[in-house]
Amino acid sequence: MRDYHDKIITIKRKYNMNQPLLLCPSMMCIDCDFLKDEIIQLDQAGIDIFHCDIMDGNYVKNMALSPNDVRSICKNTKKPVDVHLMVSNPEVVSELYLKTDVSIIYIHPDTAEFPDKLLLKIKTAGKKVGIAINPQDSILKFAKLIPLCDYILVMTVNPGFAGQKYLEWVEPKIMELILLKNENNFKLIVDGACSPSIIKKLYHLGVDGFVVGTSALFNKNESYDTIIKQIRDENK
Ligand code: DX5
Ligand code: ZN
Repeated sequence: MRDYHDKIITIKRKYNMNQPLLLCPSMMCIDCDFLKDEIIQLDQAGIDIFHCDIMDGNYVKNMALSPNDVRSICKNTKKPVDVHLMVSNPEVVSELYLKTDVSIIYIHPDTAEFPDKLLLKIKTAGKKVGIAINPQDSILKFAKLIPLCDYILVMTVNPGFAGQKYLEWVEPKIMELILLKNENNFKLIVDGACSPSIIKKLYHLGVDGFVVGTSALFNKNESYDTIIKQIRDENK
């Protein structure tokens, strides 16, 4: 890890890289009784991208947001909205979201018959695209897809549930992806159990953004405003 760290700090200093910090609330963690209020409060708290987890009970043993939830989120904000497709048939499900105002569509490449074709199709439809890389998956496995990506979502939990434990052993892969950012044009987003201390550590190494769920933002005593301001102040 040390040599990754030193290599990255050298590059950051050389290129004066201080990427803006992207905070993306995981909308499966909100209080659904107050969907509209939650969207407005998060928006006013200064978040950057609304993160919408889509599950099919098959690729992952859980269900989360629906197309109607996502449409409601898009309707009540001018901020970008992403969908993270944890489904076995992304060719079919992505079609549903091409017809919405979402800005970014993430697929798990292992679920698509021809992931490169699907990414290109989504891009041609005017959306930004990204791949989600599971903890056990190597970068090499999806190397040929990286040049197609506007975003890469690196999972630090196994996909499917909020509130899981952070998998620290994924960090060497995150370091590799930070170095890969130099010759590719993607934004690197970490998804899964991102606490304020993890955000601080990885942001300063070059990660662009974090999905903020139960580890940093939801089910806390403070308001979204206060928490988001604290995280931004800590990472100035
Ligand atoms: C898990 C989802 C994450 C999750 C984040 O499959 O992709 O977005 O909701 O929630 P926390 O931060 O609680 O892990
Ligand atoms: Zn997610």
